[in-house]
Amino acid sequence: MEIRTVAVLGAGTMGAGIAQVCAQANCDVRLYDVSKDAVAKGVKRIADFLGKGVEKGKVTAAERDATLARITAVVDVGEGASGADLVVEAAPEEMELKRRLFRELAAAAPGHAILATNTSSLPITKIADGNAAAARIVGMHFFNPVPLMKLLELVVGERTATSTVDAARAFGVRLGKEVITVRDRPGFASSRLGIAIAMEAIRMVEEGVASPEDIDKAMVFGYGHPMGPLRLTDVVGCDIRLAIADHLAEALDAPHFKPPQLLRKMVAEGRLGKKSGRGFYDWKE
Ligand code: CAA
Repeated sequence: MEIRTVAVLGAGTMGAGIAQVCAQANCDVRLYDVSKDAVAKGVKRIADFLGKGVEKGKVTAAERDATLARITAVVDVGEGASGADLVVEAAPEEMELKRRLFRELAAAAPGHAILATNTSSLPITKIADGNAAAARIVGMHFFNPVPLMKLLELVVGERTATSTVDAARAFGVRLGKEVITVRDRPGFASSRLGIAIAMEAIRMVEEGVASPEDIDKAMVFGYGHPMGPLRLTDVVGCDIRLAIADHLAEALDAPHFKPPQLLRKMVAEGRLGKKSGRGFYDWKE
């Protein structure tokens, strides 16, 4: 099956990035969010990113315009999903919201459509539990910024059909991604590793082992990571990382995922990282 039309549910950072790469791969894309304002913000994100790409000489003005022309803004899930060959849900990380959306998708999307979730931590099997389309539900976990990050992590739920995984993998390759396939275990592969390193780095700040700058430099210059774990925590959001760490500590019953007190304190004080202007670093400038 060739994927020609993609619906993306959620026009935040991840949804906008996913919509952009699908449109750049010549798909017609319907970008959904709950209000016209929210979708317009997503479309603007895409236009800004493509605009920067033009400035950097990575994208031509004609490619930018053609990509934007392939994206339609919608505020109705049914309108987005009808006629879609692939739906990628990138809504907030709330289990009940996702379960409801996938029930709607099972009714509104064509019977052949792949129904994917971009969740970074919630179990695919639970999202699909009791859903008539469970065999077509799969995790397609993208990374931020989606147009630049090469990884696509496919997460296979207990009822996901092999044909669904194969179609999702083929589409990931078409998007130019390196595709990995992972069982539906808590934190999959990427979040489990990323959170383990981040929680240890925060514990080291708490213990006064070194400054955030020096801990980050250890990973950047010693291990070749593009960004240290503390700066990355600021970029992703301290609140988001705290929620994932709490979930993993419980789901895997593993003390090394237990969030350090420092992280809880930062979140309680509104020091959420880049989005609030301050986290481990000062982002005001
Ligand atoms: N359009 C097209 N190309 C662009 C672009 C744009 N708008 N902006 C940048 N680029 C290109 C640049 O031209 C450059 O290309 P070359 O390598 O060919 O020169 C490349 O992208 C890198 O850009 P920069 O040099 O400007 O910036 P950088 O070196 O800082 O790299 C980055 C940017 C790739 C994002 C890098 O900072 C990075 O890897 N950061 C870590 C990101 C990360 O870890 N993400 C995962 C977060 S966790 C997650 O997402 C999972 C989850 O579930 C929450």
